[in-house]
Amino acid sequence: MIVCQCLSTNEATIRHFAARGADTVGAIGRACGAGTDCGSCLMTIRAVLDQCRDIELDPAHRSARSIAFDPVAVSA
Ligand code: FES
Repeated sequence: MIVCQCLSTNEATIRHFAARGADTVGAIGRACGAGTDCGSCLMTIRAVLDQCRDIELDPAHRSARSIAFDPVAVSA
């Protein structure tokens, strides 16, 4: 799904940069330009970032690597 029409940036690209630390709309704009032209996509970018954050906080969606280093999992 295209999130930013002006820069032809899709949701996967937003998720890609979010996973590498671009956790604000401004950071996404600096990373790939999305949201830096007309601005009509800013709410959608924010929604994608919120989804990424929710998934990151949900233990059911943690990657195997993060579970391997989870102190709770190690002590259990
Ligand atoms: S649609 Fe994203 S800046 Fe215009």
